[in-house]
Amino acid sequence: MDALKIESAGAFEQWTLEREPMRNALSRGLVEELKQHVIRISEAESCVRCVVLTGAGDKAFCAGADLKERQGMSVAEVREFLQNLRELFLSIEHSKAVFIAFLNGVAFGGGAELALACDIRIAAGHVQLALTEVRLGIIPGGGGTQRLPRLVGIGKAKELIFCGRRVGAEEALRIGLIEGVGVLADARAMALNISENAPLAVAFAKKAIVQGVHLPLEEALGLELQMYEQTLETEDRLEGLKAFSEKRPPRFVGR
Ligand code: COA
Repeated sequence: MDALKIESAGAFEQWTLEREPMRNALSRGLVEELKQHVIRISEAESCVRCVVLTGAGDKAFCAGADLKERQGMSVAEVREFLQNLRELFLSIEHSKAVFIAFLNGVAFGGGAELALACDIRIAAGHVQLALTEVRLGIIPGGGGTQRLPRLVGIGKAKELIFCGRRVGAEEALRIGLIEGVGVLADARAMALNISENAPLAVAFAKKAIVQGVHLPLEEALGLELQMYEQTLETEDRLEGLKAFSEKRPPRFVGR
């Protein structure tokens, strides 16, 4: 355990995958730790509004599943690992906190899928992303075949997955695979910015986008309305209006 370093910065946290000698590969233990911390910040009393997720060192954000650990696994154990990985990625996607992946280095296989499950991706200039699975005789099983086309389009996703091709920062930005190129401080500044906005409003907006994208437009618009309605009764909405009229920054409380 303790392959994940947690640092608090007030309303946001930085989580660092700390397995640099293995290029931050996802072991069973690391997946479990990540799951536990997503549960922790989902509890009602948690004030964590945003997470910057990154990897130790500058070589890899995450080299995917731990292939050394995989060698000793039975088929049943591989299935169990994959199930846990899929649950982790879904829990990140459905968390009320916003996840920003700062890609400090390569993101391959499950590492790229981890980045895809996050809300926003900022990458260092030397980053490379790839879904390399077909080179290993498997397919992306952590959501890659579904989340990549939703982000970059079906044709580009097919090309990248069938070839297992590596994409650099410039191309990743151009095709919409990442949202920005920068340094860790840029990802942290974005996390601070998001954390300063009304927490319930950000969480409801995330839910409207994450769930709405899978629905026909009219149902999705209905979901947006439901989320909007939930902000109407909040103290933060009134505080936003009051702060505007008093020409001062709002003090949101998350109620
Ligand atoms: N699982 C377990 N160990 C891994 C790993 C993985 N996914 N990726 C890298 N490592 C280990 C290497 O085996 C090596 O260990 P060693 O020092 O005991 O030999 C160590 O990390 C460093 O790897 P190395 O390849 O020497 O470093 P690098 O910085 O030159 O390259 C990568 C890093 C990530 C580009 C390269 O290791 C790689 O391509 N890994 C496979 C990634 C992959 O295909 N993942 C998909 C899994 S589905």
